[in-house]
Amino acid sequence: MADVPENAPEHCPGTESEDAGKASSCAGCPNQQICASGQARAPDPDLGKIEERLSCVKHKILVLSGKGGVGKSTVSSMLSKTLSMDQNKNVALLDIDICGPSVPRIMGLEGENVHHSGSGWSPVFVKDNLAVMSVGFLLASPDDAVIWRGPKKNGLIKQFLRDVDWGDTDYLIVDTPPGTSDEHLSVVQYLKTSGIDGAVIVTTPQEVALLDVRKEITFCRKVGVPILGVVENMAAFACPKCQTTTRIFPPSTGGAEQMARDMHVPFLGSIPLDPRVARSCDEGLDLSADLDVTTRLYVNIASRIMDACEEKNKENVVMDTA
Ligand SMILES: Nc1ncnc2c1ncn2[C@@H]1O[C@H](COP(=O)(O)OP(=O)(O)OP(=O)(O)O)[C@@H](O)[C@H]1O
Ligand code: SF4
Ligand SMILES: [Mg+2]
Repeated sequence: MADVPENAPEHCPGTESEDAGKASSCAGCPNQQICASGQARAPDPDLGKIEERLSCVKHKILVLSGKGGVGKSTVSSMLSKTLSMDQNKNVALLDIDICGPSVPRIMGLEGENVHHSGSGWSPVFVKDNLAVMSVGFLLASPDDAVIWRGPKKNGLIKQFLRDVDWGDTDYLIVDTPPGTSDEHLSVVQYLKTSGIDGAVIVTTPQEVALLDVRKEITFCRKVGVPILGVVENMAAFACPKCQTTTRIFPPSTGGAEQMARDMHVPFLGSIPLDPRVARSCDEGLDLSADLDVTTRLYVNIASRIMDACEEKNKENVVMDTA
């Protein structure tokens, strides 16, 4: 499927629809001729380029949530750091939250720039085996606002997948914005031929978050993205002074574990609301070096994700040889 042109009007029925170029809403659109010819329905030639570029990336994992602010970027960053604790694994983190890129800050990379070379865009390296790419590296200042409509955002996501020189990578973690919007559809579409191992769904325990997260699971099922599992974030707060544990976000409908059971998806684990996590995100510090309770929980979750990816690999090998 080809991209929607950047100049497509808001009411565009979709260039791949049967009515493209012929619908009444297409009247006056500068793309009418090209859409009516069916050219826009032709397979996107960039998909082959993305597949070639990502052929050296073993596992591709999306981090998703229907809800904003539940910790997708934190979980993506912590997972990338945790996976890269193994020096023999190369890990890459791609931030496709075009309008709200928080990964540069969380990873302590604010002010870094992307370099161009003959082999493409070079990601920014946190250390030898951990590479990061984000629209945040392309902005003059972290306070700059990116006010882009769908097609332009999709174009940048495509560039990130097609033009970034990721090199030999074991895990590519993709941090996404909340919901099921253009960015999600694009990344799923662009990675279709390269293959996505699956999605890690992040939620907080309260029903108002779970409500949106169930929709995200339905989205994954609709677009054929396997679900590696659900991470419950900011689950409980253990007071460092009195040691009392408080559920700040009440799990009134049983929390993420119950939701995962109801939706028949794996539950990967629960991360507490930990002030050190919040501080390390704000200050771009690396918590993974500190083997405390929260970091150990991340190590467990990362190991479950690695196992789930290996399982998917085996299934694919069986399917290929069947
Ligand atoms: N386990 C945790 N303990 C304490 N604070 C946390 C934890 N997880 C995330 N936070 C804090 O919650 C805030 C939101 O987290 P984050 O930016 O990762 O959410 P998000 O889902 O990516 O948001 P958005 O939907 O805007 O992309 C941040 O300030 C982060 O530091
Ligand atoms: S002509 Fe094409 S781009 Fe323009 S509104 Fe119709 S389908 Fe969309
Ligand atoms: Mg985020």
